[in-house]
Amino acid sequence: MRVTQARVRTFHARRGRRSQLTESRLATLLPRYAVPAAVLAPPGTLGRPTRVVLEIGCGHGAAAVGYAAAHPDSYLIALDVHPPGVARMLAAAADEGLTNLSAELADAVEFLTDRVPEGGLDAVHLFFPDPWPKARHHRRRFLSPENLDLLVSRLTPTGHVLVATDHADYAAYVRRVVADHGRFAACQVPRPAWRPLAGFEAKGLAAGRAITELVLERATRIELA
Ligand SMILES: C[S@@+](CC[C@H](N)C(=O)[O-])C[C@H]1O[C@@H](n2cnc3c(N)ncnc32)[C@H](O)[C@@H]1O
Repeated sequence: MRVTQARVRTFHARRGRRSQLTESRLATLLPRYAVPAAVLAPPGTLGRPTRVVLEIGCGHGAAAVGYAAAHPDSYLIALDVHPPGVARMLAAAADEGLTNLSAELADAVEFLTDRVPEGGLDAVHLFFPDPWPKARHHRRRFLSPENLDLLVSRLTPTGHVLVATDHADYAAYVRRVVADHGRFAACQVPRPAWRPLAGFEAKGLAAGRAITELVLERATRIELA
């Protein structure tokens, strides 16, 4: 008998009805902001944007909107599984008239696996990922060894991952899992000026927590196999 193991989810399953505002925003804006095929074309394809950046777990989307507004030559794809957040972000993107941003209600692991070509991303942003503080939940943390493999394959050779967290244990975990994985090096970096102070960052600061900003870049070690 073949046993198929369910994949571990990195997000909280949320129930509850969507508000009418969320419903109407999603109905009009999700199709308008769907990811164009050229954005997910392999690097070098004619018509592909110069830089393609993926934000995983965009929440209400302040960082995604801030990045797209500050980088008109880049293209930002924002993903979350939480409908009210994506709806709010799309309303803000429409208010700002942004044309270099797309969004989907999608699990980033599935999106990266099924939709993104190898070397298709210049950067990945992971801001304030769910910390899953209990030890028995650590396997739900997004930066697992399996997802680091996935990120290595979907980033260009010079691509990077920006991570921010207000959870000291998660920051230590990231350094550890990245060092053990061996394909990235993690370095502390300054807070990006384009990211508005909002969402979980604002909550963390209000609660007196320090923010850790890390960049993961390809480790420049000789790969033996
Ligand atoms: C703690 S919130 C942070 C939201 C936002 N980045 C901020 O800083 O305010 C983490 C978000 O990541 C989303 N998330 C977790 N795993 C995800 C996945 N595999 N794919 C897409 N979104 C995910 C959750 O739904 C949640 O909205």
